[in-house]
Amino acid sequence: MRFRPLHSSVAAAAAYKPHPKARLLRRLNPISSMAADPPPPQLESEEDPDERFCAALDLCSFSDPPPLSPTEPIGRPLSGEIRVDRAWAHWNRLGSPKLVVAPMVDNSELPFRMLCRKYGAEAAYTPMLHSRIFSETEKYRSMEFTTCKEDRPLFVQFCANDPDVLLEAAKMVEPYCDYVDINLGCPQRIARRGNYGAFLMDNLPLIKALVQKLSQNLQVPVSCKIRIFPNLQDTIVYARMLEEAGCALLAVHGRTRDEKDGKKFRADWNAIKAVKDAIGIPVLANGNIRHMEDVYNCLDHTGADGVLSAESLLENPALFAGFRTMEPKENNADEIKDNGGLDQADLVVEYLKFCEQYPVPWRMIRSHVHKMLGDWFRIHPQVREELNAQSKLTFEWLHDMVTRLKELGGGIPLYTEEANTAARAATCNS
Ligand SMILES: Cc1cc2nc3c(=O)[nH]c(=O)nc-3n(C[C@H](O)[C@H](O)[C@H](O)COP(=O)(O)O)c2cc1C
Repeated sequence: MRFRPLHSSVAAAAAYKPHPKARLLRRLNPISSMAADPPPPQLESEEDPDERFCAALDLCSFSDPPPLSPTEPIGRPLSGEIRVDRAWAHWNRLGSPKLVVAPMVDNSELPFRMLCRKYGAEAAYTPMLHSRIFSETEKYRSMEFTTCKEDRPLFVQFCANDPDVLLEAAKMVEPYCDYVDINLGCPQRIARRGNYGAFLMDNLPLIKALVQKLSQNLQVPVSCKIRIFPNLQDTIVYARMLEEAGCALLAVHGRTRDEKDGKKFRADWNAIKAVKDAIGIPVLANGNIRHMEDVYNCLDHTGADGVLSAESLLENPALFAGFRTMEPKENNADEIKDNGGLDQADLVVEYLKFCEQYPVPWRMIRSHVHKMLGDWFRIHPQVREELNAQSKLTFEWLHDMVTRLKELGGGIPLYTEEANTAARAATCNS
């Protein structure tokens, strides 16, 4: 399932108890200190060990006071040309990031973003945050939104259906991000029930009100992530409406609301190109990005200013550094060495190190380990069963598991095109 229902996180937040490190946390985490409602969160939930943080929250701080936002709140609608110029000026100030980690509930959290940034990602989205719960619940804020100085450029994504509530939530994060993003693409049942995400496509005046509210009252620009309509003209009218309402960057997922299965339905790059041609603000393309060749083809085809990748990054967080996955094979350790020595187990180890530095709930770590090592587990299912049987994880156990997997063999090397070409040339010459 694409979107993990929010209720697990919310239930976990509700299970928090006061924690003795509360004062330290408040000092380190300005978002916590802004909240009026003590007590601060407890780190451990007795209900489900996976909801516990993987280490003490005092490590997980917003280390320095955030930089001031570069733009002034405008408080009134701007003319089209000025709006577009401002949108580009902001995008260029950020270095025009082309390779972007897509928003993923429970999966684009801080340690994963940091791992992807290390391997070439130039910007990243947080997972979708629920604006009402975020604005009301300190526990939810502390548990679901963490960042650090190096975690920029950053899009913080909210789902919402009330402009005032959205603004309240957005105000809390604006010092820590470069865009506040509105999720207009979630197609899951939970979004239908909650009346947000792609189901707002049935109520365009509400979408317009959400965008206007943010664009006229925030210092940071507002971005939107949309799905396309079945009819191209509807999509173009929609995109133009968003731009006019004050959206400063548009990410277009080239699938409709009904095309939920990304493996079954190819994203429509023609529709993304049509949107890019129809509006003036920066556009990011989303869908069908499995490796860097796809990135180049997509930018070429759509004329978009950057791409988002989601599912493929989960399997291979080094995608944006040019690494690709290979077919699983038994005992291919030599090949791994030939191709630069990087495999998914190495990425898991690096990810775990980021988690030790930037604690997150164990359920997120568990999810990433499964996704990065999925192919390896298919060769050694007993190791996956052992992992599933661990109701309480530790870093030590996970590191041991990775070592055992490596000893068992069958690793899947990640390779770069250059390494592959060189290997092919060497084979031809020998
Ligand atoms: C695990 C998972 C969680 C996701 N959560 C979100 C989310 O929080 N917000 C959002 O806008 N899209 C979310 N998506 C959708 C992705 O951002 C992206 O639009 C979609 O997967 C298509 O990109 P892809 O073809 O690269 O996977 C999620 C996707 C996955 C796989």
